[in-house]
Amino acid sequence: MRVSAEKHAPQDGDSSLPCYDWQRSYEWNYNHAPSPLTVDEKPVAGTWNYCGLPVGSPLGIAAGPLLNGRWVLYYASLGFDVLTYKTVRSRARASYPLPNLQPVFAGRVAARVKDAHGRKLFDGERRGIAGDAIREAALDQIRLFARVIGEHQLKLRMVGVGGIATAQNVRAQLAAGSHAVQFGTAAMLDPQVGLKIRGELASG
Ligand SMILES: Cc1cc2nc3c(=O)[nH]c(=O)nc-3n(C[C@H](O)[C@H](O)[C@H](O)COP(=O)(O)O)c2cc1C
Repeated sequence: MRVSAEKHAPQDGDSSLPCYDWQRSYEWNYNHAPSPLTVDEKPVAGTWNYCGLPVGSPLGIAAGPLLNGRWVLYYASLGFDVLTYKTVRSRARASYPLPNLQPVFAGRVAARVKDAHGRKLFDGERRGIAGDAIREAALDQIRLFARVIGEHQLKLRMVGVGGIATAQNVRAQLAAGSHAVQFGTAAMLDPQVGLKIRGELASG
């Protein structure tokens, strides 16, 4: 998606683009959304659509990292075309206090986590794990549901989420049956990941 309200045009290798500051509160990040950029996005080979609408690529941002419309515009200006506004919840509630994000070692999508000193975090409750640790589990789930959808001839399309960070991960998700793919962790850590991947997907 191309958005024009430029402030700053990133250069190759520029890792200084603003992103969610995990050491500050959700409220702080909510109030400090970066401005959209003007960037030449490489076209992604193929024809893509989402819910019947034409889109420039199957690349998107998952539920959560885009706190409000200004965050949506920022990531829309960085090569993402399928963007989830904020979050998917059944009821309103205040965001959790810090830590909102915590590096962990885990291999499951939901797990109890400890800090570096072995202390239980989040009162010992399970929390969602994201990033590299869940990539294979996410792919397995897409393959499983693709089989079910095929067997029952369901009119459903899947959006693959979980550990996607490279063009190779994108291709694997699409080959497994995803109609679009969404990034969470990778795009929070490196807002340019979509632009980099578009370069690699430009030639198919
Ligand atoms: C900071 C953050 C906030 C998230 N908030 C939500 C949320 O509110 N609702 C939701 O359904 N998923 C939420 N997620 C989960 C993501 O949508 C996604 O499923 C998960 O991060 C796995 O993708 P990843 O490995 O690319 O990060 C959140 C993830 C992160 C990192």
